[in-house]
This record gives sequence, C-alpha cells and structure tokens, in this order.
Amino acid sequence: MFKNLGESGSTFQVIIFQSSLIKIKIMEIIIADKSHSIYAHSICETISDAAQVRGTGIAKRKPEYIISKMENGNAVIALDGTTFAGFCYIEKWNHGKFVANSGLIVHPDYRGQGLAKQIKKIIFEHSRAKFPEAKVFSITTGLAVMKLNSDLGYKPVTFSELTTDQSFWDGCQTCKNYDVLQRTQQTMCMCTGMLFDPNSKETKEHKKIKEKVFKRLKTIKQTLFLKNNKK
Ligand SMILES: CC(C)(COP(=O)(O)OP(=O)(O)OC[C@H]1O[C@@H](n2cnc3c(N)ncnc32)[C@H](O)[C@@H]1OP(=O)(O)O)[C@@H](O)C(=O)NCCC(=O)NCCS
Repeated sequence: MFKNLGESGSTFQVIIFQSSLIKIKIMEIIIADKSHSIYAHSICETISDAAQVRGTGIAKRKPEYIISKMENGNAVIALDGTTFAGFCYIEKWNHGKFVANSGLIVHPDYRGQGLAKQIKKIIFEHSRAKFPEAKVFSITTGLAVMKLNSDLGYKPVTFSELTTDQSFWDGCQTCKNYDVLQRTQQTMCMCTGMLFDPNSKETKEHKKIKEKVFKRLKTIKQTLFLKNNKK
C-alpha cells in the first residue's frame, strides 16, 4: 500500500507499507532525465517479459527510444533506492494536439501495491502541465490500465476520436494483434481507446466507469475477433 509523502521539485516520495509493519520503504517517483539512461535496458526487458507472460500484444520499444524520452523530460521513473521499480513515458502526436502516456510498466517485485496508480497520476499531471491544450489518450488491453485511466477522467472512445498521426498507428506493427488492426482498417482492435479531453463537458463531469463494463467489452472483442480468426 502506498501513501504520498509529498513533492520536492520533480521528486515525489511515497512510503510503502508492506504486510509486516517492519518493512517500510521509501520509493521515489521522479521526472526522469539523462542520468536515468542506465535503466533503459532493464525497462525494455521488463516490458518485453511482461508481454510474453500476458501473451498479449505490445508495441516493442528500444533502449534508445526510452533514453530519448528521459533526455526530453517526457518520462517518469520509480526507484527503490537505485533499483528500477516502474516507468511510463509521454508521446506527442499531431504536433501536440494529442499526447499519450505509454509504456506503463511496474517490475513484478513491486506489483499489487498501488505503484502503477501513483506513476499514472504523476505522468498524467506532468502531461497536463507540459501540454495543457492536448487531449490525452491511451490504447490498452489491460483492465488495470482501463481502470486507472477511468479514475483520471478518461472516457472510452472509438479509434476515430484518437490521433490520426499515422506514425502512432505504425507503432502497433510489432504487436501480435496487428493483423486485427489492419483487417478493420484501423477502426478497432483488441485494445480499447480512451480519451481525456480537457475541453469536454463529459470530462468535467467525470463519472467513473465500473470495472465490469471493461471486462464485458474485452470479452465481446475477444469473441468477435476469435470468431473472425477461425474463418
Ligand atoms: C498493469 C500494471 C502496470 C499494474 O501495476 P500495479 O502497480 O500492480 O498496479 P496497482 O497496484 O497500482 O493497481 C492499480 C489498480 O489496478 C488494479 N489491477 C492491478 N492489476 C490488475 C489486473 N491484472 N487486472 C485487473 N485489475 C488490476 C488494482 O486492483 C488497482 O485497482 P484499485 O485502485 O481499485 O485498487 C503491472 O501489472 C504491469 O506492469 N503489468 C505488465 C505491463 C502492462 O500490462 N502494462 C500496461 C500496458 S497498457
């Protein structure tokens, strides 16, 4: 379980209470910079291992790409001392009209304690401060991420409401479900599109969506696309 200790510059400290009260650790969640390049390989490996375990699609990332995000102040890293615990980065599309918070990963040793929730909150606030006019979007198959997005005010939308920047969609080519995206002329896939539109009335009203709605949506898509695959 995480508790915010507060903010100092670009460093956010959270305290982890583990099952035994004796184990209390302080974790730092930081806007990454060049000095964090040393973690790029571990981040890519953890993302790739997670994709294999889940057996789902993922857009692969190279260490050089991760490093460029750190150098530009467009990434957040969680560190337990000098050990990498979690990561997420910002991508900018349509010349800044859209941004995405992508590549969310929590190392298996740190899952189930609320770390992803803290990282998502910090990268979202950082994105909003850096690109206040941008619509923030996400495409994901992960129920945890759908839930976290919903908590932040994102709404599920069709792909037509997301970026039209082709280089974003080209990033899906390394995903194992890419054929689905092609088959549907980029209108839908196994991922659910979610959007935070800073100017939308609906976003301001901010009604959270129940997890069972996302589960149902995921099941419908799996059934639909599995049937299509058998044809
Ligand atoms: C998904 C992932 C980031 C979650 O990290 P985490 O630190 O364990 O998540 P948290 O503990 O902050 O949990 C956040 C919320 O999601 C829920 N959640 C976590 N894992 C979940 C799962 N596998 N299925 C459904 N809900 C889940 C939690 O119950 C929590 O909900 P709550 O706020 O109601 O308590 C982590 O499991 C991971 O890195 N997985 C592999 C990579 C991945 O799937 N990335 C997302 C790509 S889009």
